[in-house]
Amino acid sequence: MCCVLIGNLMRIDILTLFPEMFHNVLENSILRIAQEKKLVSFHLHNIRDFSTDKHKCVDDKPYGGGAGMVIKPEPIFNAVEAVEAKEDLASKKILLTPQGKTFDQNIADDLSKEARLMIICGHYEGFDERIRSGIDAQEISIGDYVLTGGEIPAMVIIDAVVRLVPNVLGGNGSLQNESFTNGTLEYPQYTRPAEYRGMRVPEILKSGNHRKVEEWRMKEAIKRTQERRPDLLDKKTKE
Ligand code: ADE
Repeated sequence: MCCVLIGNLMRIDILTLFPEMFHNVLENSILRIAQEKKLVSFHLHNIRDFSTDKHKCVDDKPYGGGAGMVIKPEPIFNAVEAVEAKEDLASKKILLTPQGKTFDQNIADDLSKEARLMIICGHYEGFDERIRSGIDAQEISIGDYVLTGGEIPAMVIIDAVVRLVPNVLGGNGSLQNESFTNGTLEYPQYTRPAEYRGMRVPEILKSGNHRKVEEWRMKEAIKRTQERRPDLLDKKTKE
């Protein structure tokens, strides 16, 4: 059972073999601002520190043979239990794997309402199956391709989730209109100058008629979605 975000601080624990990979991403742009505003806190934990093996080994050869190495259950179970105990707040656990449910804006929206996330990054050929069955985690993939590890997927998910946490972004009007939020891609956007290299901003956007601008944007969003991502419209009509 996880807790829903009621106060205004979300805690995100990241379990990884490569904590240094996260520093630049967490210390810049919106993720930095979210921490400065005390809306989110990040806690990096090196899985290797939880190995009781004298060589701090976290992986081993697969039973039955085959290529690659498999992450052992022991350091992951130890890490999950020790990190969970750091706060008196149950965490929603996420295991990153290409075998998981494909991440999308709806999942990001759900996760943004949690008070605490624990993100477990794998590496090498995969996790020992007992990690999947013994830890109550949602398995998530960021797409149908295989990456070297879960670190980049974790950063993708953190970025998509944290920007949805209330008050992280300035005004939430920008969230309402962006791609995927309404089941469509976003309409075309323009800024100054009104003409650039012969390409002109549509007259309607300069008309000051808000109703007409809204209609135009809705029409363009649907047209663009039909051309580029008709699957999104099919999904919307089935809902
Ligand atoms: N680890 C390796 N590939 C991945 C993917 N596509 N999504 C999530 N975790 C992964």
